[in-house]
Amino acid sequence: MARCVDVYGQFQPGLTARVSVEDRGFLFADGVYEVFAIFNGQIFDLAPHLRRLDRSLGALGIDRPMSEGALKARLAEVVRRNRVREGTLYLQITRGVAPRDHAFPAAARPSVVAWAKRFDFTQRLAQARTGVTVVSTPDLRWGRPDIKSVALLPNVLAKQQAREAGAFEAWLVRADGVVSEGSSTNAWIVDAGGAIVTHPEGREILSGVMRGTLLRLARAHQMRVEERPFTLAEARSAREAFTTSTTAPCIPVVSIDGAPVGDGRPGPVTGQLVALLWEEIARQTGYLPG
Ligand code: PDD
Repeated sequence: MARCVDVYGQFQPGLTARVSVEDRGFLFADGVYEVFAIFNGQIFDLAPHLRRLDRSLGALGIDRPMSEGALKARLAEVVRRNRVREGTLYLQITRGVAPRDHAFPAAARPSVVAWAKRFDFTQRLAQARTGVTVVSTPDLRWGRPDIKSVALLPNVLAKQQAREAGAFEAWLVRADGVVSEGSSTNAWIVDAGGAIVTHPEGREILSGVMRGTLLRLARAHQMRVEERPFTLAEARSAREAFTTSTTAPCIPVVSIDGAPVGDGRPGPVTGQLVALLWEEIARQTGYLPG
C-alpha cells in the first residue's frame, strides 16, 4: 500500500485511509480516474493525462474540483510524501459525498483521492524481451468506454479470465469481430503489409495516453501507422502484435488464444517502438532503467 493517501484534501496513513460510505464513487461508480507513471520522481506525460481527466469530468458533468495549477501541486505533493522515484500515481475524482439518490446531488463537492506507490518498471523491460500472451473475450462494456470512469466491472472480469488462462491480458472483441482494446491496455498489430495498426479514437475505446505518445513517436520516425479497426482474425494472422498502457508501456504479444503471432517471438517493429518509448521516457524524466 502507499505510505500515505490524500483523502478529500487530508493525508491519511495508507494502511488505514478511509473514504465515506456515502461517496458516490463507492455507491454508483460515479467518478473518473487517472493512472500516471512516475520515473525519476517525475510524472510522465502529465499534460495529456490532465487533458483526458478534464474530458472525462466534462463528459459526466462533474465539476473540476480545483484549478489545473492546484491539481498539479497536489499531485506533486502526493508523489513527494510517498517518496516514490519509480512507480504509479492514482487519482480518483467522484461526484462527491451525498445521501444515496441516483440523480445528481444538488450541493455535493467532488471528492478527490490520490496516492503514489512504487512499481518496478524493469519487469516491463523483461516482458518486452520475451513477449506476453493474450486471450480474447467478448467486449461486454457500456457504450462509453472512452470515458475513464471507475465503473470497471467488465474489465475486471476480462482480466480475471486472462489471469486464470495464464495470460497477461484479455483483448475485448465486439460482435462484429473487431478488437476494441485490452481490459486495461490498448491493442495493436503490425499487419500483413507492415503497417502499425490500432483502433481509431472514438466512443468504442479508451484513448490511451501511451497510445497517443507511441503514435506520435512512430510518425516522427516515418513508420507507417494506420488508425483503423482490425478483427481478431486479422490479429491472429498479423506479423506482430503488442499492447500499450501507462503501466505496461509497450509489450509484444507473442500469442493470441494459444496460437502464435508471426513466428511466436517479439518482432522487429515492436522492438523499435519499445526502444523509442524508453528513449522518450528518458528524455522527459531522465530515467534510465538500471
Ligand atoms: N488502464 N484501455 C483501457 C480499458 C485502460 O484501462 C487503459 C489504462 C488503457 C491505456 O491507457 P493509458 O495509456 O492512458 O494508460 C487502455 C490503467 C493503466 C488502469 O486502469 O490501471
